[in-house]
Amino acid sequence: MAEQDFSKKEKNYYSDIPQKSEAFFLKGSNAYDWGMKNRLARIFNPRSGKTVMLAFDHGYFQGPTTGLERVDITIRPLIPHADALMLTRGILRSVIEPSVTNSVVMRASGGPSILKELSDERIAVDMEDALRMNVSAVAVQVFIGGHFETQTVNNMTRLVDMGMRYGIPVLGVTAVGTELTRDARYIGLATRILAELGASFVKTYFVPRFEQVAAACPVPIVIAGGKKLPEREALQMARDAIDQGASGVDMGRNIFQSDAPVAMIGAVRKVVHEGASVKDAYEYYLDMKKK
Ligand code: R5P
Repeated sequence: MAEQDFSKKEKNYYSDIPQKSEAFFLKGSNAYDWGMKNRLARIFNPRSGKTVMLAFDHGYFQGPTTGLERVDITIRPLIPHADALMLTRGILRSVIEPSVTNSVVMRASGGPSILKELSDERIAVDMEDALRMNVSAVAVQVFIGGHFETQTVNNMTRLVDMGMRYGIPVLGVTAVGTELTRDARYIGLATRILAELGASFVKTYFVPRFEQVAAACPVPIVIAGGKKLPEREALQMARDAIDQGASGVDMGRNIFQSDAPVAMIGAVRKVVHEGASVKDAYEYYLDMKKK
């Protein structure tokens, strides 16, 4: 306990300076409570307003994905370069050092493997366990137009309700089945539904006319990387997405399957946080690759 204040120094209440009350920096997030905003500010950098999330949760339905056979070896070197880690609770507990300071976005839905109907997902993490692991958000796949559409929407809305109780944001992930067209019309429909039903932020794919998708979505959108592309093309996609309204990337294979993953995540950071051109970011990638 502090000793009693016997200071002779004159007190200063700065009565001529009104206390500032600033709007929260993130799109659509101003009405949340402190804990929710603080968690979002651990995912999205308050200076740039953007995020580079490193996605390596692919094993939750497809097992040891190429590049993720040994997460302890391939992902560890990338961790200091990511703002947020998107992963499963199994990998978090078994492989990730508790001393990391990155925010964690935890995959909280699952069920079917690649051998079954993928949309038949259920909630896969209890919110109390997510809290125990100090996550900054939970992520749930929603299959708009999919076979189990209503069930996956219900997974998300239940997580949103539980998340609101504890101040945990929910990342709604638009899942695109092989039968659905990946275009602005579909992605615009799916992202808007997820935001309307309470997702604090949404993850989807970059598509032509993405600026319309971003404009119609009242919460931040992060884009998934998708299948591995040549590095320059992946950087171009990130540049275009940010320029057209994305608030960051949640990229996996285009980073961990790159020939030089550390150089690649550094180049992605340049695009997302520093506004670098594709040319400059690609040159950075080539330089870092040599080192
Ligand atoms: C997919 O299984 C996961 O939800 C990934 O987090 C997501 O697809 C992003 O990873 P990638 O950039 O490899 O598409």
